[in-house]
Amino acid sequence: MIAATGINQLKVTIAASEITPFAKTGGLADAVAALSASLAANGCQVNLVMPAYRGIIKTSINDAQYVADIEFKTTGQVLPAAIHRSSIGPSQDIYFIRCDEFFDRAGLYGESGIDYPDNDRRFALFSRAVLEVAGLTGSRIIHVNDWHAAPAAAILKLQPERYPGLSAARTLLTIHNLAYQGHFARDLWPSLGLDPAAFYPAFEFYGGINFLKSGLELADRLTTVSPTYTREVTYEGCGFGLEGVLRARAASFSGIVNGVDYNLWNPENDRYLVQRYSAADLSGKAACKKAIQHYYGLEEDPAAPVAAVVSRLADGKGMDLIREILNNLIGSGAQFILLGNGSRDLEDFFRPLPSMYPGRAGAVIGFDDGLAHRTIAGADMLLMPSKREPCGLTQLYALKYGTIPIVRRTGGLADTVKPAGGDRGDGFLFDEYSGAALWEAVNRARTWFEDRLAWQSLMRRGMLADHSWSRSMHEYLRIYRALLS
Ligand code: ADP
Ligand code: GLC
Repeated sequence: MIAATGINQLKVTIAASEITPFAKTGGLADAVAALSASLAANGCQVNLVMPAYRGIIKTSINDAQYVADIEFKTTGQVLPAAIHRSSIGPSQDIYFIRCDEFFDRAGLYGESGIDYPDNDRRFALFSRAVLEVAGLTGSRIIHVNDWHAAPAAAILKLQPERYPGLSAARTLLTIHNLAYQGHFARDLWPSLGLDPAAFYPAFEFYGGINFLKSGLELADRLTTVSPTYTREVTYEGCGFGLEGVLRARAASFSGIVNGVDYNLWNPENDRYLVQRYSAADLSGKAACKKAIQHYYGLEEDPAAPVAAVVSRLADGKGMDLIREILNNLIGSGAQFILLGNGSRDLEDFFRPLPSMYPGRAGAVIGFDDGLAHRTIAGADMLLMPSKREPCGLTQLYALKYGTIPIVRRTGGLADTVKPAGGDRGDGFLFDEYSGAALWEAVNRARTWFEDRLAWQSLMRRGMLADHSWSRSMHEYLRIYRALLS
């Protein structure tokens, strides 16, 4: 452990476009919040940075202190923005970047499935603000996450003279999902306020602008959120066009698997559940199952296996495979529930499930954190047939709640779910990306489910597996220290 206070304390700025509990659309928000808490508990001073979205302007910003103004020069415009700080725990501050013209909107990245047309300027401003916060706080490490903040690492390399206080700072870019890169048209370049000469080679991607690529080229160090995903994205066809860039950075690129914040995701103390339970006493899980069957309008049958999906309805999550097996699943006597939102097509497909399979299937289209906890707790099985999954947190939450994950062997799913067999393992895996392979895995799970004792052993093994942040947090600390040595 490094010194908890004083001049030896490692100061880290961690930037992300979403951070739990302030704004969340997926696992990025949970992963960043939990890593930050874990680093702070282990002696770092963590300065989180995120945009002040509408929800934050209405609530959290009222408890924050104004720190400084910043100006963002973009095409024909100088936009005022301000930095506000709030303490969220010992050695943990959060800095909100307030620019109402950009962030006081109904969505984080867009509305009704359509991205905001000025996302280039919104996240260019954010990336610059990250460097301001790093300077103000005297951070030695600037840890940026995903495309929204990746340009901060590039800008620091390209314009070091603008940030003299950061000459000793080092940057780490964590990729949570390579499928999202921040592509923009070339003619938006002037809006970034960067020298025209900076376009090549870092930002340029097939003639356009690529925010993520700028960080991949110029951050001092790169990570993804699981070792398997790190390997996968360097294979031809798996890196969304950035395989070559990643291969070129192989010596500075590694994978650290995400953990779980067991203060937030734990059936022993989860405030959302009708009854709490533990590996030692599973009785409360039956009450959670009954409650969730009732909530989704299912027959309250304790013997029917309940299979759940809690997911963004987006490409890559394998929802086409779920569609393929749905009839067979319901026909087999299982029940199916889904909580999700995202693509219009998928929302429209899943919304009418209750009338298609009355009493056997339910769907809630929307984003509801409490319901996510209750759905995961109440189900027997969690389906996560992702085509690609950088890490995945939902399967880790399911394990802790004794809900057996059925996952495709890819990315972080391969690294975290252990195949059931004999008296080992805690989930069911399949390889081929097809409805038939998923259905075969579901059938293996259904066979185990028939044997109550074997199933309960499986549940207990998952519930007792340790996926806490502590080991991964130490791996990040090692990288931070190596960057500074
Ligand atoms: P990703 O980040 O790709 O969406 P993860 O499995 O890492 O996948 O994280 C997803 C997170 O978002 C989990 O915390 C999950 O519970 C949550 N989540 C996904 N969809 C919903 C939803 N519709 N309502 C509430 N929470 C959701
Ligand atoms: C991304 C990935 C997911 C990962 C999460 C947190 O959203 O899609 O697999 O768990 O980030 O790192």
